[in-house]
Amino acid sequence: MNAPVRPPAERTRSRRGSLLVGDCLTLVPRLAEKGAFDLVYVDPPFDTRAHHGIREGRGERARGERAYKDSWGGIEHFLAMLEPRLACVRDAMSERGSLFLHLDYRAVHEAKLLADRVFGRGAFQGEIVWVPGNGGRRRGGPSVTHQTILVYARGRAMIWNDDDPALREPYAETSQRMHFGQRDGDGRRYRERTLGGKTYRYYADAGRRRGSVWADCPAMRANTPLLGEATGYPTQKPEALLERIVRGASLDDSRVLDPMCGSGTTLAVAARLGRRWAGVDVNPRAVAIAAKRLGVP
Ligand SMILES: C[S@@+](CC[C@H](N)C(=O)[O-])C[C@H]1O[C@@H](n2cnc3c(N)ncnc32)[C@H](O)[C@@H]1O
Repeated sequence: MNAPVRPPAERTRSRRGSLLVGDCLTLVPRLAEKGAFDLVYVDPPFDTRAHHGIREGRGERARGERAYKDSWGGIEHFLAMLEPRLACVRDAMSERGSLFLHLDYRAVHEAKLLADRVFGRGAFQGEIVWVPGNGGRRRGGPSVTHQTILVYARGRAMIWNDDDPALREPYAETSQRMHFGQRDGDGRRYRERTLGGKTYRYYADAGRRRGSVWADCPAMRANTPLLGEATGYPTQKPEALLERIVRGASLDDSRVLDPMCGSGTTLAVAARLGRRWAGVDVNPRAVAIAAKRLGVP
């Protein structure tokens, strides 16, 4: 990040994916030569003004080697870093592709206007409010207990697998009791609604579309040294969060890109779900951690 950018070097390549060390600005076009990406998840520095250390052991504090410095000298410098990198990932995306841009209150509002410029305002598909569950951190004002993931489509329609169980949630108890009184031949409870002259059937056990506030993917899974998922890399995101995004916005034959991959959470999830994957990080330690996680040389 703020560390000197090393010359592009292919760290590892397997049949299903590639991991590169260097600045995504120069490396993503190289990855895109092999085909366009259906899903890009970008979890950049948040402009926290902090230095993030790698947790070396099982201790509670991350005192180890610095992973990256998240200090930009003002929001305008942060945005100047982000803009060309968003433009380069946009150019690497397929017509059915989407971008998930993960930020928090410090930069998300300015970044939204920036991303509107890069993708076009009409490309904005909405936002996910992610509640990491760490409690409120801010003093001297309202506490902030969520982060925001902005979603942009590259073309007219992005992949979205509405029916995937990861994108469904149970109907409220009262709604189940009030509305789902009928049963089909297999004993499944359903309701029917007629809209615009057409009748639709909804099954209770299929659940309803998940809302935009995701509070059930706790950050703790990724950040607690006692849990197997934690790599010690700072700001590591939980696999459950990425799993929902990958399941929602990609297909079996999709290529998934994380151009600031850190410990490789997106890539590990994409690999587990059988997608092809590609990751870049400017920090060689991050790429080494991601490679280990992916089980590639
Ligand atoms: C918030 S962390 C990503 C954490 C990751 N999502 C995870 O689960 O581990 C941001 C990452 O962006 C990387 N980064 C910053 N600027 C970059 C750039 N220009 N190109 C590639 N990586 C960059 C940093 O080294 C850092 O690892």
